[in-house]
Amino acid sequence: MLKAENLRYVYTSGLIKTVKKTAVCGVDLEIFPGETVAIVGESGCGKSTLAKLLVRQLESASGEVFFDGTKLTGISWKNLRKFMGKIQLIPQNPDDVVDPRWAVERSVAEPLVISGAFSREEISAKVDALFAEMGLSKEHKPRYPHELSGGELQRVVISRALALKPELLVCDEATSMLDVSVQAFIVTMLKEIQKKRGLGLVFITHDLEVAKAVSDRVLVMYAGEIVEEGKDVFDRPLHPYTRALLDAVQYTSLEVVLPEEGGALPDSFSGCPYFRSCLERTDVCKEPQKLRDVSGRLVRCWKAK
Ligand SMILES: Nc1ncnc2c1ncn2[C@@H]1O[C@H](COP(=O)(O)OP(=O)(O)OP(=O)(O)O)[C@@H](O)[C@H]1O
Ligand code: SF4
Ligand SMILES: [Mg+2]
Repeated sequence: MLKAENLRYVYTSGLIKTVKKTAVCGVDLEIFPGETVAIVGESGCGKSTLAKLLVRQLESASGEVFFDGTKLTGISWKNLRKFMGKIQLIPQNPDDVVDPRWAVERSVAEPLVISGAFSREEISAKVDALFAEMGLSKEHKPRYPHELSGGELQRVVISRALALKPELLVCDEATSMLDVSVQAFIVTMLKEIQKKRGLGLVFITHDLEVAKAVSDRVLVMYAGEIVEEGKDVFDRPLHPYTRALLDAVQYTSLEVVLPEEGGALPDSFSGCPYFRSCLERTDVCKEPQKLRDVSGRLVRCWKAK
C-alpha cells in the first residue's frame, strides 16, 4: 500500500552559521493493507520526521514515496491532494490539528468541507457518525478543545483523521500525552477501528510494551536509520541497539563511552551509526553496514546471526 525507498531528510537551522542535521537517512519501508507496523527508537532518532515524510508533510531531500503504486514524491499539489485523504497523520499534540478557537465539530468537519464533495447535510451526518464511532456524544460537538479531557480531545483528532476514509493512519506518539488507562483505551479503540475499516496502521511509540502488543511488525530506528526490522523483534532481538533498548542497558552502555570518544560521529564517518555506544564494536564496524536478511529478520549489523 505505502512504500518508501531510500528516504532522506536534512534539517538546516541557524541564521549566521547554518547547521545541518540529517534526521532520516536512507530509510526503505513498506506497509501492507490492514497491517500494524510499530516504529520504535530513542528520542531524536527521526521517528516524527519519518512520519511527516510518509504523509508528505515534509518533502524529502531524496528518495521516493509510493501509494498503491503511484509515486507521491515530486507530483503536483493538485494530484497529491487526491491521495492526502487516504493517508492521515495523528500527531502527538492535538493542538497541531485542532484549532483552539473552533468548536471541535468544526475541526472534524473541516476535511470534509475542504474536499468539496459533500453537501452541508451530508457533512453534518458524517460528523455525527464519526463522533458516535469514537464514543463521543452530541454534547461534545459544540465544545471548544479546552472543554474536553485529553482522551476526548485525542478522540476528536482521530475522528478528524478518519473523516475522509483513510486507508492508512500514521499515529505519532498519539497517546503519549495521556495517562496510562486512557492510553490503553485509545489504543484499543484504534485497533477496533483498524479491524472494522481494514486500515493500515503505523504506530510510533516510546512504549515498547504497546509496540509489542499492537504490532504485526516492528521497525527499530537509530540515528535516522532502520537498524532492525521483523515480526518477533522483541522476543529475539538481534541488533545490539535493540537489545540495549529492551534491557534499558543503553544507559550503562553510554557510561562506557570514554569522553574523548563521545559526541557525535563526524560527518565523514560512514560506518555503523551505533558505533560510539556499542559494547560489541570492532574495527569492522567502521565499514558501512547494510540491512541484511538474517533468517527472515532485517538487521544492520554484520555480527548478527
Ligand atoms: N525543525 C527542526 N530543525 C532542526 N532540527 C530538527 C527539527 N526538527 C527535528 N530536528 C532534529 O532532527 C532529529 C530527529 O527529530 P525527530 O523529531 O524526528 O525525532 P523523534 O524520533 O520523533 O524524537 P521524539 O521521540 O523525541 O519525538 C533530532 O535530532 C531533532 O533535534
Ligand atoms: S556493526 Fe558493530 S558497532 Fe554496529 S551494532 Fe553491530 S557490532 Fe555494534
Ligand atoms: Mg517525535
